[in-house]
Amino acid sequence: MGIFVNIISGGEPFLFPGLIELCGEFEDQTFVIFTNGTALTETDYNLLKRSNNLAIIVSIEGSPEFTNKRRGTGVYEKALNTIKNLDQIGVPTGISATISRMNFRYWMNPENIDNLIKQNIRMLFLIEYIPQTPLPQLKTESTDHSFLLKPEERREFRAQVLKFRSTKPIFIIHSPGDEEYFGGCVSAGRGFAHITPAGDLTPCPISNIATHNLTNSTLREGLASPLFKEICKNEHLLETEGMPCALFAHPEEVSALAKLVGAYKTDLDIL
Ligand SMILES: C[S@@+](CC[C@H](N)C(=O)[O-])C[C@H]1O[C@@H](n2cnc3c(N)ncnc32)[C@H](O)[C@@H]1O
Ligand code: SF4
Repeated sequence: MGIFVNIISGGEPFLFPGLIELCGEFEDQTFVIFTNGTALTETDYNLLKRSNNLAIIVSIEGSPEFTNKRRGTGVYEKALNTIKNLDQIGVPTGISATISRMNFRYWMNPENIDNLIKQNIRMLFLIEYIPQTPLPQLKTESTDHSFLLKPEERREFRAQVLKFRSTKPIFIIHSPGDEEYFGGCVSAGRGFAHITPAGDLTPCPISNIATHNLTNSTLREGLASPLFKEICKNEHLLETEGMPCALFAHPEEVSALAKLVGAYKTDLDIL
């Protein structure tokens, strides 16, 4: 089917027993696992030493203080230590950060990027914060909303990411900024699709509508579904329009489309 990269994002993937062995069963596939970096055991490191199809990305928020404030006391130190251990045994590793108004200036500071490079960190995922509350509520000033970059801040941030990319020896992935290389939103099988822990196939991790569940239908059927086809076909839906995410920017159209194709919500608390 042309699928060769599988991103496992959790929850916390390292709480799932047998994960590394499971990835090892699919030698022609690459797995990128996102982790908070606090739960890897000696057994995990021993198994990882022998793996050759895994990359492990550890999350921090920015500074030690801010990371520990959001993720818990001592988590920054544990996360960096995990990266060091992975690097020492030859596992490709790097950092992921959720970019919000609280920390985007930290990530725009060249000294902070240089500091990571000095520590031999060569991969950086900068994922712009996407709120979990429904857009209609977002239009009023909710807490969730206040974390979103403002359009001018997003432009500034993007410009700095592009500058780093052309000047610094670190591989940076910026979401959704890099979707511009693909002509907009890459959901619904244009670039990727998402499977929830319950098996529902959703267009993207941020989207919670589905028509297929992989416990009773195939991935091929889900990717060919009217829901996915309509999203891919509709260019307007693929544009972010100043928001961090295209599907989030078009709640009415997405709702109407969900109704049309008989989609159900995979998480009743959000969207
Ligand atoms: C969902 S977490 C799960 C994996 C693992 N438990 C961890 O803490 O990294 C994977 C990545 O997504 C980022 N993330 C979490 N919530 C997000 C949101 N609302 N918008 C954008 N990125 C988010 C996190 O910072 C983290 O780097
Ligand atoms: S739905 Fe949003 S976050 Fe997902 S691929 Fe499209 S623009 Fe990016």
